[in-house]
Amino acid sequence: MTKGSFYEAVGGEETFRRLVHRFYEGVAEDPLLRPLYPEEDLAGAEDRLRGFLVQYWGGPKTYSEQRGHPRLRMRHVPFVIGEAERDAWLKHMHDAVQDLSLPEELENRLWDYLVMAAHSLVNSPV
Ligand code: HEM
Repeated sequence: MTKGSFYEAVGGEETFRRLVHRFYEGVAEDPLLRPLYPEEDLAGAEDRLRGFLVQYWGGPKTYSEQRGHPRLRMRHVPFVIGEAERDAWLKHMHDAVQDLSLPEELENRLWDYLVMAAHSLVNSPV
């Protein structure tokens, strides 16, 4: 069980489903980000990001059962991520986080993590 986890506090699977779905609605319309995603359909990318976030915040570990260790920096190497891509990613994620209308403390915790993680995945000077 995942009692007491952040995952549970924010509303479990359903909350992460809404978050990541809303995020990819933004990515789908983004001329800078959309070309980075190799698959024509964003459904697989949506499953992977949601699974990762669910696991990270204390929910079921389905992501690693299917994908192994996250190794996020390594998995992002094929994609050129400069400041512009990072900021575009964060903009869509910000919209998606806002849409959840979480209590401020939980929202801040989630957002601070996403900002940190996005900064850590920049792999190109431009
Ligand atoms: C995968 C872009 C930040 C988590 C991907 C993919 C792209 C991408 C193009 C491949 C899509 C796919 O799975 O088919 C970006 C860009 C970012 C960014 C431009 C801007 C900084 C992040 C952050 C996280 C994250 C901050 C975590 C908090 C993931 C995960 C996958 C993924 C879990 C799937 C890895 C796998 O299992 O293969 N990302 N990403 N990404 N990204 Fe990001």
